[in-house]
Order: sequence, then C-alpha cells, then structure tokens
Amino acid sequence: MKHTEVNFEQFPRHVREHLVPTYEGDVVYECIGCAATYHLNQFLYTCPACKSLLRLHDRKFDELKKIDGATWRDIFDYRLMLRLEPLKGIFLFKEILFPSIPLQDIIYLGEGHTPLVRSNAALSGLVGMEFFVKNDGLNPSASFKDRGMASAISFINYSIRKRNIKELLGICASTGDTSAAAALYLSYLDKNIVRSVVLLPKGKVTPQQLAQPLGSGATVIEVPGVFDDCMRIVEQLAERYQVCLLNSKNPIRIMGQKSYAFEVAQQLGYDTKDLTVVVPVGNAGNVTAIMEGFLDLYRLSIIAHLPQIVAVQSRHANPVAAWRASGRYEPMTVQSSVAQAAMIGDPVSFPKVKKLVEEYFNQQFFAVDLSEQEVIEGMLEANRRGHVVCTQGGESIAGLAKAVKLGIVAKDRTVVVDSTSHQLKFSNFQQMYFENSFPAEYQITAKPELVNKPVQLEASADAIAGYLKLKEK
Ligand code: F0G
Repeated sequence: MKHTEVNFEQFPRHVREHLVPTYEGDVVYECIGCAATYHLNQFLYTCPACKSLLRLHDRKFDELKKIDGATWRDIFDYRLMLRLEPLKGIFLFKEILFPSIPLQDIIYLGEGHTPLVRSNAALSGLVGMEFFVKNDGLNPSASFKDRGMASAISFINYSIRKRNIKELLGICASTGDTSAAAALYLSYLDKNIVRSVVLLPKGKVTPQQLAQPLGSGATVIEVPGVFDDCMRIVEQLAERYQVCLLNSKNPIRIMGQKSYAFEVAQQLGYDTKDLTVVVPVGNAGNVTAIMEGFLDLYRLSIIAHLPQIVAVQSRHANPVAAWRASGRYEPMTVQSSVAQAAMIGDPVSFPKVKKLVEEYFNQQFFAVDLSEQEVIEGMLEANRRGHVVCTQGGESIAGLAKAVKLGIVAKDRTVVVDSTSHQLKFSNFQQMYFENSFPAEYQITAKPELVNKPVQLEASADAIAGYLKLKEK
C-alpha cells in the first residue's frame, strides 16, 4: 500500500531504526498480590492462585532503558508524522503500552490524541487558576474508555488469529461509557466469531449512553440495581463461563488507558515538573492507568518528575476520598449522582490505587469530594465558557477549584483536568438543572443565572429583531 510507505531518509538518523516499532517485550499477567505470573495465551482477570487483581508486566522492560529518555521523546514525536494506521492512535507509544501485539492486529477507530484546551480568563477566575482541559470526550464513542477498548479489542483480535478462536463473547458491566466503547469496538470484529453483550443498571445510564450499544448491535441487558450489582454479576460470569470480560478489571484495558498519561506528557513537551493531573474516580481504572503511565515514562527517563494526582469524587460515591481522609477503606452504598458514570461504591481497581499510592505517589496523591451542586455547576460553568465537558469533567473542574481553595494545588502549577466524556452524553442532567426538576436526593437547586431555555417566537425577522432589541443599520 503506497500511502503507508515510510521515507526513512526524511527523519533524523537516531530515530530511523526505531520509528516503526519492532520491540515485542515479554509481557505476562502478574498478580499484584502474590506476584505469580501467567502467560498471555488466555483471558485472565484475577490471579487463579490468590484471587488478587492482575496487571500486565513486561519482563524485558529494562531493555528499553538502552535508549535514553531524549531519544524516546524524539521517537514518539517523529512517529506522529508517520502515516501508519496502527500507530495513529494509542499505539503511537507501543513499546510502553503493549509491545507484544503485532502491528497487523491493532484495531484503530480514531481514538486518542485528544486536545488540551486552555481555560479562558473568566473560567480561570472562577476556579482560581489557569488550567487545561484534556478533552477525552472527543474519542470515537465520546469517552476515554476507547483508549482501553482499543488495546483490549486489539488483543482479542490478535488472540482470535493466534489461538484460532472460533467463538468469543465480549461482556462488560457499565455505568454507560464502557458499554458504549465495548460495543463499538467489538462491532468492528468478525460477527461470525464475536458476540457483544453489555449489562446495565436499569435507569442509571443516560439515554444517549443506552443508545450507543444498541446502535452498535450489542445485546443490551438491563437489570435492577446499581453498577456495583452489575459488576458482581459479570465477575461471576467471567469466573464460571468462557466470556471475555471488558471492564477495567481486565488489565489489558489499563494498558490502553495509560496513553492518557503519555499524551499529556507529550503535549506538554515532556515537562512534568509542577504538573498536576485532576481525575474523576469511579471504578478507579482510569486513575490507576494514569499513575502507571506516568511511572513508565519516569522509569525510562522520558519525564523527570512524577505529577501530583488529584482524585475527585461526589460525596454520593466517595470511597476513595473517604479512604484518603481517614486511612481506612470501606465500600459504600452509593446515592444518586449527576456524576453518574462514576457512581461506584466499591471500585474494583482500588487495591491497585492503594499500592501505587503507597509505593510511588504517597506525597503526591490527593483526593477531594464535592456536593452534587458543585459537580453539576462545574460542568455548566465550563460549558458556558468554551468547553464540552461532561458531569465527570465538571466534577474535575469543581474539584480543582476546591483543591486550590484548600491549598492542595498551588496556583503556579501546570494543571491538566480530565474531562472523561462528552457534554452531550449527559444533557439529561443539564435539562434537569434548567427545569429545576432534580429529585430531592440530589440536593440540587438551579441558580437562575445558569438556566437556559429555548424561546418560542413567530417565524418573522421583525419578531426576532424585536425580541433581541436589535438596532437598525
Ligand atoms: N468518567 C466517565 C465519563 C466514566 O464513564 C467513568 C467510568 C469515570 C469517569 C470513572 O472512571 O471508573 O476508571 O474510575 N465509567 C465506567 C463505565 C465505570 O462503566 O462506563 P473509572
């Protein structure tokens, strides 16, 4: 294929041989509890020996240190100029993301490389400092989940070919976005082999999020309860039946989501001194991946400093913030939250967060929690000033404002706020605010100055000009 040919001559000598990755590593599942390792020729989610969570570990990772940090930075930067489809998305960082997948098996649907959008003066004033929103709503299924799904589905694609799999059922529990991403990416694979099933808590995903897996042709199963109930069910199914679990409990999802950290570093010219990343936390897969990603970069001297991490939760689902405040972790029963995608009382990846914080981020990991009013107004205020953030993005922005107020984040830092999905997915909560119709449990009262409604006028220029009080030329 002509358009994918690489003219190596146009690149500096020191990056030429590395531009198209050949390093395969030696990636295995590794238990975070007993450190047992398992071959990748199977789908595994917990350690068969001790039941702890698994992570992926490249046993040859130290070989990557033969290339110095500055050269790695150049490799990743020059790679942006290539026209090789498999490297266009999150696999730009293939060596540190998931080296063992051959390029031919990578599925690319346009994920990754989402923009950093600077806050304007008015929004900076409200929050207390200038910051960037990294807008992960601008992914194919409109959330950051596409990052992890691109790695998981590429691995499935590779496994189908390598292991000659004839039948595969991909399944996940979801608060809405994982299911949208899983259904989208699975729908790209051969339907004669792959079936796609999503399990949703009935009435607890938005209409747009429900429409997504339906549109992708997945089997959508709604059950009573909340996300935590759905998660328990898919965990049991994955334990007992031959299904491929696509929640972030699957460590291959985490591999892809590390790309968020890689991109933030790249977009900031790899200068992570004084960097703070603000992340909304639900099942805790994302914050795990972000910490792991920065750690990989740090180990290879691609960056010189680990960032400060600020985790944000609604008080209606705040087990991580409560743990950080009290030192004790307890699963909780969640209450209704506009940050509905993060409405999780017992985050599956919490043991990974705890370990990463204890081992590497202890001085640099903070958590804040917020009222529902603060969360929704974080979204509305941002979207009135040039952004398209979801309620979880609003949670991040309001969380930053609180962290600034509490003195957790100094005003001279470089701050990147994670907006994890697109505004449009959560327009039902915007609507409830504009109609001041939130059920009592949310404890949200609309402020008139933030309410906006359509105006009904007759179809005439005069009527509209009169309403707008336009001056004649
Ligand atoms: N923001 C959005 C938009 C989400 O969809 C989620 C999680 C989070 C934040 C929290 O991220 O779970 O990695 O801590 N949604 C999952 C789902 C649970 O099923 O879509 P997390």
